[in-house]
Amino acid sequence: MKVVILDDAAAVARYGADIYREQLRKKPDSVLGLATGSTPLSLYRELIDGNRRGEYSFAGVTSFNLDEYMGLSADHPQSYRQFMNREFFTHIDIDPANTHVPPGDAVDPIQACRDYESAIAAAGGIDIQLLGIGRNGHIGFNEPTSCLNSRTRVKTLTRETIADNARFFRADEFQPQLSVTMGIGTIMEARLIVLLATGQSKAAAVQAMVEGPVSSWCPASALQFHSSTVVIVDEAAASELS
Ligand code: F6R
Repeated sequence: MKVVILDDAAAVARYGADIYREQLRKKPDSVLGLATGSTPLSLYRELIDGNRRGEYSFAGVTSFNLDEYMGLSADHPQSYRQFMNREFFTHIDIDPANTHVPPGDAVDPIQACRDYESAIAAAGGIDIQLLGIGRNGHIGFNEPTSCLNSRTRVKTLTRETIADNARFFRADEFQPQLSVTMGIGTIMEARLIVLLATGQSKAAAVQAMVEGPVSSWCPASALQFHSSTVVIVDEAAASELS
């Protein structure tokens, strides 16, 4: 695990974007694992700008998102599918047919999870997986006590995660308490993993991920066993590292 500590969130986004720029130049038909949440937004803006400047193209790219809220259809404004369309996909030259987000409203969720795993395998596996980290150490929606070799499945969100994500929902709006998420085992098969964390609120989780024991209490700690992970953090998120 390589840990890169930079001055601020803008530098984290630029450093992350450089890794993607390099990846797309090297392999224009890369398979990208993508994340939602606040943290990757600046990186997505960097990538959009580079794409508009013609520095690289997403035309040959296939993408797989980490997770989706269970109970929300793909056209629901709060779904992660809509988040990705709004924040990233509609601003770049990716073929929408090549973008994948786990279905939140499958009639048979267990089969849908198997199908998602099969689609990743059929695409040749994920070349580069983008991750954020929850304050409780989750990656994707693999909450504490998740099995460290889990595959794509339905997961109950913890009270802490529901509270953290309440900021995205109006008070009178339905907020899902279940998710469909790639498993930790799924994430660990990515060839390269890029995890971004910014701000003081992530400092304890970053410390547990990087320096703590490998434990399902901090799902991100499993990344210590991954052979090619880059953790990019700002000073605030690094403040509890020894
Ligand atoms: C999002 C995801 C989550 C977030 C994490 C951090 O697809 O899988 O693990 O990366 O909750 O979220 P933010 O970036 O909003 O702090």
